[in-house]
Amino acid sequence: MELAGIKLKNPVMVASGTFGWGKEYADYIDLNKLGAIVTKSITLKSREGNPPPRIVETPAGMLNSIGLQNEGLEHFLKEDLPFLAKFDTALIVNIAGESIDEYVELAKKLSKESMVKGIEVNISCPNVKKGGMAFGCDAGLTKEVIAAVRKATTQPIIAKLTPNVTDITLTAKAAVEAGADALSLINTIVGMSIDIETGKSRLGSLTGGLSGPAIKPIAVRMVYEVSHVVKVPVIGIGGIMTGNDAVEFFLAGAKAVQVGTANFVDTEASIKIVKEIEDYVHRHPRTLNFS
Ligand SMILES: Cc1cc2nc3c(=O)[nH]c(=O)nc-3n(C[C@H](O)[C@H](O)[C@H](O)COP(=O)(O)O)c2cc1C
Repeated sequence: MELAGIKLKNPVMVASGTFGWGKEYADYIDLNKLGAIVTKSITLKSREGNPPPRIVETPAGMLNSIGLQNEGLEHFLKEDLPFLAKFDTALIVNIAGESIDEYVELAKKLSKESMVKGIEVNISCPNVKKGGMAFGCDAGLTKEVIAAVRKATTQPIIAKLTPNVTDITLTAKAAVEAGADALSLINTIVGMSIDIETGKSRLGSLTGGLSGPAIKPIAVRMVYEVSHVVKVPVIGIGGIMTGNDAVEFFLAGAKAVQVGTANFVDTEASIKIVKEIEDYVHRHPRTLNFS
């Protein structure tokens, strides 16, 4: 199948930040069986991330406040890209910046790498003070960032949207008007968890992003709303643990899905989901179309 000009073996991708740089999972699953690998967010310079603790389990989900920890673009190009080049699976690189110029520079440099088949623009990270969600919560800023990235690259651009807005169709339409070839949604929902013995937040940075099954109904609703107002393909993300969960997103209008938190529960989750979607397609031959 093809999505926004990117060839995919199947509609199941692994979500940014939950699959490292691929290497971390390569001993457990065959990366060639995935529809696409989406890297953890890459920034221009290395980032230490937020103070610990950065992960808390919650009922039916988890809160994280990683804060885009990574070694920076040059390290990725030198150390991680050559490893990923060994696999015959579409590679989508997720980028994050503190300023529009940073997004532009990342997109320009990544465009030179033939291995990179698409750029996912993270304008939805809730765990950083500058950039991230600050761009994605505002339709005007969304348009500015995506338009600037559009000018910097001819590669397919996927705008990753935040659910932390009143009306997600506004930022979705802004991203498409600015030239996004596809939209992915949702990133995490801002949440908090307090330890009642200490009276303090369980996260070093006070708040974090909620993911996992708890957010699935919100994500399905947002995918439904967005896919009815834009013409570009929508990639559904949020609490997908099984093939049946993925099918819900397809029925809501998604053309592909990304699997995030499930990778932490079961390293084989994404591969199992591919198989479970195939089983559904056999049982319902005319319901879904992955051409
Ligand atoms: C530990 C963790 C780290 C994440 N890091 C990133 C990231 O670097 N960039 C990004 O765009 N999304 C990041 N996300 C968000 C996921 O890609 C995904 O949008 C979100 O978790 C919802 O999907 P899920 O419920 O299947 O996990 C992260 C999520 C988790 C749980």
